Amino acid sequence: MKTTKNTSTSDTKTKSTRTQSKPRGSVKAKSSAAEGLRELFVESLKDIYWAEKALTKALPKMAENATSEDLINTINDHLKVTEEQVSRLEQVFELIEEKATAKKCEAMEGLIKEGESIMEETQQGPVRDAGIIGASQKIEHYEIATYGTLAAFAETLGENEALQLLQQTLNEEKEADSLLTEVAYNNINFEASEEEEDEE
Ligand SMILES: [Fe+2]
Ligand SMILES: [Fe+2]
Repeated sequence: MKTTKNTSTSDTKTKSTRTQSKPRGSVKAKSSAAEGLRELFVESLKDIYWAEKALTKALPKMAENATSEDLINTINDHLKVTEEQVSRLEQVFELIEEKATAKKCEAMEGLIKEGESIMEETQQGPVRDAGIIGASQKIEHYEIATYGTLAAFAETLGENEALQLLQQTLNEEKEADSLLTEVAYNNINFEASEEEEDEE
């Protein structure tokens, strides 16, 4: 007699759980624009996932080529941060229930290549250091633009936990950029211009 109630209870429960798991943002409605934005969000995540992984290999090469202690430390510190960012992206994929997949990021590949040619074309010392700083800052600015966009997408899609993680990485990229500026203005650029004068 009392058992008949159970069926309807579990039915209601399933429905409410489903609505609770997608509670946020107005865009989450089944519009094709929202679906399109979500696809773009996932594709961009795959892109930056590839980029961050590529950077874990590129940054050690930059540190090896650098002379200034400050610069070497800044790069090595950011390498550790970058490794954490890779795992943070894996968390984001998990949160939005997508498989963590890397998709080749042509832009980052180009920026890394540019850094490599600067290192080949310069002699080890302050000029190469200045080149490494320039190349690194282009990389950081690309990351800042990317994470800014990803954070905006996450916010629009109502993915609030993902948003927080992406914002954390965005702040780290901004910090890396200003640390590189500090290194550059503290000595490297100045020394580099002095060396050029000496060569003339
Ligand atoms: Fe990064
Ligand atoms: Fe970075």
